[in-house]
Amino acid sequence: MSIKVARQRLKTLVADLEEHSYRYYVLDDPEIPDAQFDALLHELIEIESKYPELVSANSPSQRVGGQPLDKFTQVKHELPMLSLNNAFDADTMHAFGERVLDRLQTEQEIEYVAEPKLDGLAISIIYQQGEYHQAATRGDGTTGEDVTLNVRTIDALPLRLRGKNIPPRLEVRGEIYMPLVGFDAYNKQAEKNGEKTFANPRNAAAGSLRQLDPAIAASRPLAIFAYSVGVSDGWDMPATHYEVLQQLQAWGLPVSSLIKRVQGISGCLNYYEEIAEQRAKLPYDIDGVVLKVNDLQQQEQLGFVSRAPRWAIAQKFPAQEVVTKLLEVEFQVGRTGALTPVARLEPVSVGGVTVSNATLHNMDELQRKDIRVGDQVVIRRAGDVIPQVTGVIASKRSGKEKPIPAPTTCPACGSDTIQPEDEVEIRCSASAYECDGQRAEAIKHFAARRALDVSGLGNKLVEQLVSEGLIKSCVDLFHLTTEQLVTLERMGEKSAANLVNALEQAKHTTLPRFIYALGIHEVGEATALGVAQHFGSLQKLQQATTEQLEEVDDVGPVVAKNIQEYFSLESNQELITALQSAGLEWPDLEVLEPENASLAGNTYVITGKFSELTRNEIKASLQSLGAKVAGSVSSKTTALIAGEKAGSKLSKANDLGIPVYDEQQLNKLLDS
Ligand code: IVH
Repeated sequence: MSIKVARQRLKTLVADLEEHSYRYYVLDDPEIPDAQFDALLHELIEIESKYPELVSANSPSQRVGGQPLDKFTQVKHELPMLSLNNAFDADTMHAFGERVLDRLQTEQEIEYVAEPKLDGLAISIIYQQGEYHQAATRGDGTTGEDVTLNVRTIDALPLRLRGKNIPPRLEVRGEIYMPLVGFDAYNKQAEKNGEKTFANPRNAAAGSLRQLDPAIAASRPLAIFAYSVGVSDGWDMPATHYEVLQQLQAWGLPVSSLIKRVQGISGCLNYYEEIAEQRAKLPYDIDGVVLKVNDLQQQEQLGFVSRAPRWAIAQKFPAQEVVTKLLEVEFQVGRTGALTPVARLEPVSVGGVTVSNATLHNMDELQRKDIRVGDQVVIRRAGDVIPQVTGVIASKRSGKEKPIPAPTTCPACGSDTIQPEDEVEIRCSASAYECDGQRAEAIKHFAARRALDVSGLGNKLVEQLVSEGLIKSCVDLFHLTTEQLVTLERMGEKSAANLVNALEQAKHTTLPRFIYALGIHEVGEATALGVAQHFGSLQKLQQATTEQLEEVDDVGPVVAKNIQEYFSLESNQELITALQSAGLEWPDLEVLEPENASLAGNTYVITGKFSELTRNEIKASLQSLGAKVAGSVSSKTTALIAGEKAGSKLSKANDLGIPVYDEQQLNKLLDS
């Protein structure tokens, strides 16, 4: 490749990578699979390594660069980074609203912008000529630390702004945080490696940003939301804060999709309730909401008092960490035989939810933290994860607290326990076929929503079925009769018939769901989907060699070994055959080379409700034929697949003259 061609290709690659990052992180609407993104990045790196003179400082390959620092340099903020006044109740919010009206000498209802209050740390980011230039922490509000190299590693942050009218100089302010999945994964790994774990995602984000070595920061799963603008040169600011946020998003910065305009304090209070309800399901920690006067002129009129603006307030959630007494520790067996200690607690309210059980992870952690029965312990509840015991208040001990010995027998089946070398977990020595506890857990997993999705078969019912001896394995589920089921406590004719019906329906499943349902150690939903798409059939998966398995994204040596071990066991083979004899079936997936895929080059948008397939299933089917599936209709859309109750996407497709397919036409398309 000549340097001229290389320059041209790099330009295209950079533009494509930036576009895909934008779709992924800002629009939450990726157009290509991760593997394809990686391939583009790989190509870029290859070309850059041949022509180092063509590498620009803000190339997507340059997220990690430079030597570890000795120390951070100080950065003085041109405009101070302020903090917010807090409200913990509606009265304080009303008082805030009254003050705003008083100061503005108006009786007209004020429009506020309502935002989630991310629980991370504030950051100031400077773009010059649209290029990422510098990032600094808040510090004391006047002077912060230069964390440019670390912030550059955050994939969601654009290194170059996109779109029109980009000011020559722009300071973006926002919050850096660690998503909960990343936080949990990090802590798990750290624990395995015997390294320090973080007590909460906020500390994890702060600790990661304070790393002197950018390579370490790069390995931490950080993310960012922008929430305002600091200094700017050469920009005609819009009239409202809301428009500022829209502009930031258009320039490529991630802005929370939960942000809304609301009217008056009653609108603010409703928003608080709405967000409080969603909080547990959010993929990151928030500690309240922030309400800001929308009109920027009004903001200016209101000004500041000491270190906080008069035009904004944070309405905070009640604390999510509380202290209570540890009454007892019980051990529960999981579907792989691992025994997990569960803390029974004196019931306590954490963020509005009463908690009486919490997880202690494993015996190792229990001993490391020296937790004893009778201790005052710290309970933390974050998102919809199970509450955890994060620490113990040793100073409150009376001396009567009792250490917790490692269990020597399985609480479910009484078999001896074992602790395999270099594993922190203690396990039941019996196999999944001999231990009732493991069996019940395996069946729960098998029937769960993301596996075979047997509606009406909840955890309690599975336990009941196992303990009554009605089922011993997931195969037995499919032989249950209404007559058997009605003998169970609290089970009427109707529910029994419904369950039998649901089981009948669950027999028609998909390959990825079936693989996931098997509960192979460390094969989660994504891995199941990956191997299903790669091999196309269960038979091919069972015959796959280690090398072939490792060709799949996400599958490393450990998972490959787990998959092979699973299929090499005769009992598992018998289980699969029995399930198929019971009527379980799924279509094989077509494994197509990209260039042979029948729908390659086409982009579809899916909307509305369908009678036979879920939208995700339709998406997977289209993708397996090489098509792209986008989130919004544009002139590039090949067709809109519209089910019942289609709304704005349908009108947009009609406006643009894009073909619209109904379910029947979709089926034809998939068959073709
Ligand atoms: S506005 C003058 N908006 O909360 C306005 N802050 O207690 C200052 N925070 O240091 C910030 N989410 O780290 C704003 N949507 C949001 C926020 C937010 C989180 C943090 C930020 C700030 C602290 C103030």
